[in-house]
Amino acid sequence: MKANEKLNAQHAKNGLAGFKVELWNYEGERGALIPLLQAAQDTYGYIPESAIDQISEIVGLPAAEIYGVITFYSQFRLKPLGKYLIKICDGTACHVNGSERIADTIEDELQVSGNDTTEDGLFTLQKVACLGCCSLSPVIMINDETYGRLTPKKVQQLLKEYKIKAQNPQTA
Ligand code: FES
Repeated sequence: MKANEKLNAQHAKNGLAGFKVELWNYEGERGALIPLLQAAQDTYGYIPESAIDQISEIVGLPAAEIYGVITFYSQFRLKPLGKYLIKICDGTACHVNGSERIADTIEDELQVSGNDTTEDGLFTLQKVACLGCCSLSPVIMINDETYGRLTPKKVQQLLKEYKIKAQNPQTA
């Protein structure tokens, strides 16, 4: 089991009781929606449908309205974290040095946009502020590895390597 899968499983195992307590604490409070969504995401690593149903009952809002709130805030995810979490730096230095083109390339290559997980569950994108290595800008991180001075071409090659790695569990 790899880092993000482990993280997802661990979230669900360790946080379940905590999430239930949050639900009891907030019963009947509409203003509790955001804290409860945060608690669900902390627990599961994303916000599953079952949690939305529970939250809907507690705060007295229809599930459709809750989906609207989730999709409005980029911090919330409706799918589990992928095997590879790609953090795309959107800090000033990276921005000046073309992080937007890097982000567009990744989104095109993976057919996913914003903060989302690919259909095959391999990659999750996350736009973040400064990753702390501005001299290497534009920078991304894939799980714990940092990649700097990127160009669209380099990033295409990198994604190709990760896809190959994913097909070969010995090296993934
Ligand atoms: S702005 Fe991207 S690493 Fe600092």
